[in-house]
Amino acid sequence: MNDPKINPDSIDMTRLPVHVAIIMDGNGRWARQRSMVRSEGHAEGVNSVNRITRLASDLGIRYLTLYAFSTENWKRPQAEVDTLMHLIGWTIRKETPDLVKNNVKIHLLGEIERLPEQVRNDLEAGREATRHCTGLNLNICLSYSSRWEITNAMRKIAEKVKTGTLSPEQITESTISDELSTVNIPDPDLLIRTGGEHRISNFLLWQCAYSELYFTPVLWPDFDNDCFIRALLDYQNRERRFGMTSDQVKQN
Ligand code: IPE
Ligand code: IPE
Ligand code: MG
Repeated sequence: MNDPKINPDSIDMTRLPVHVAIIMDGNGRWARQRSMVRSEGHAEGVNSVNRITRLASDLGIRYLTLYAFSTENWKRPQAEVDTLMHLIGWTIRKETPDLVKNNVKIHLLGEIERLPEQVRNDLEAGREATRHCTGLNLNICLSYSSRWEITNAMRKIAEKVKTGTLSPEQITESTISDELSTVNIPDPDLLIRTGGEHRISNFLLWQCAYSELYFTPVLWPDFDNDCFIRALLDYQNRERRFGMTSDQVKQN
């Protein structure tokens, strides 16, 4: 927070990440630091979601994937789960008109069937209202975990092998990618985790094979435009080698 102001003009607009994924962590600690209840941290976190979505859209980033609620988060106290569900429904209802105005298209990733009916309806209405949008693709991960997703994919592939429409020899990396909920979405170029933890917490394990990882101690409610721009600048200073040598990358 004491970092110098960042100049957005220093971003190289020709080298933006196509896909940014974010593990939005630290709402609870943000609240605790202020002697507030955790739900107030989650409510404040919604402001960050709106702010970062708007900035990503304004910059022309194509895909923004937000980890909003994990499969493991169902284990939290029921009251906190209820608050989060309520907040998710409320936010999507409130923000949909602005998303439409900004040409942002909502996609839902995860076991949406597990969410309360009212929230599912709100999400579905948001998805329907933004179906025609062609700007930023906003992927919201709810009741999502990577192992859940990969397990599902394996079941579908096994079913095809069982019925004879696919042979084991025909299974390639794209056979697997095509059964994930991120089908048709390029892998994240940049994965950001706020809140200071250095872990992936069951998020996009397959898709992040070659993503650049960016960890920041900033708690999600404090993650402002400067923080996002700082992450983008850091990304632009990396050399993505994909297994090759630095010389090879430079020749390309
Ligand atoms: C992230 O903040 C929000 C969700 C996981 C839904 P946390 O609630 O995990 O905040 P901390 O990690 O306890 O500070
Ligand atoms: C990861 O945060 C999940 C989301 C941000 C939705 P957690 O706070 O649940 O992660 P862990 O449990 O500390 O790894
Ligand atoms: Mg957390």
